[in-house]
Amino acid sequence: MQPSPPQRNLVLIGFMGTGKSAIGRAIARGLCVRHLDTDCEIERRFQMDIPRIFAEHGEAAFRSAEQDVLRRLARRGPSGAPQPRLIISTGGGTPMREENVDLLREMGQIVWLSAPIGTVLQRVGRNLKQRPLLAGYQDNPQQRIRQLMAEREPRYASLADIRVDTSPFASPKDAAAHIISLLRQNEDL
Ligand code: S3P
Repeated sequence: MQPSPPQRNLVLIGFMGTGKSAIGRAIARGLCVRHLDTDCEIERRFQMDIPRIFAEHGEAAFRSAEQDVLRRLARRGPSGAPQPRLIISTGGGTPMREENVDLLREMGQIVWLSAPIGTVLQRVGRNLKQRPLLAGYQDNPQQRIRQLMAEREPRYASLADIRVDTSPFASPKDAAAHIISLLRQNEDL
């Protein structure tokens, strides 16, 4: 009997506040597989949270660690022993490094989570200090979010296998159920 082909990882990309972490966790729970959050991996390496990493080591050190985490994830491919499928949540800026584009594609199927600017502002606005890229823009976070979104959306679009607007869903669990059913319809699960 032929062994069944290894199932691909799911990689969630998208802007801050679109639900990558919470929805990633909920998808993993729904499929009984492991969830991995690249931001958490980086925090574990540095033994400190992201605002402190940016403050003490700078964004460049954060981005290098981010790339290193992706490299390790991309490498757990078909060459070694079969690996269980992972649901991987990335940071909002992860796809912006040119070198990360191929790594993300190698890591698995890419789901782009999006949300309108008003929803993002509502979700991240409560705790701007936790987001170093917005922390210096307390007076006008909306303008900063608009500018970053405009820079990033073409990259998200070029990578995405599917796009899901997460704003209509009442909870991460509902969004996860929708994504799982979409993937099943496409016979990707
Ligand atoms: C970043 C988003 C954050 C985190 C870091 C940088 C970005 O992740 O990786 O603060 O460049 O947009 P979330 O998208 O999970 O907030």
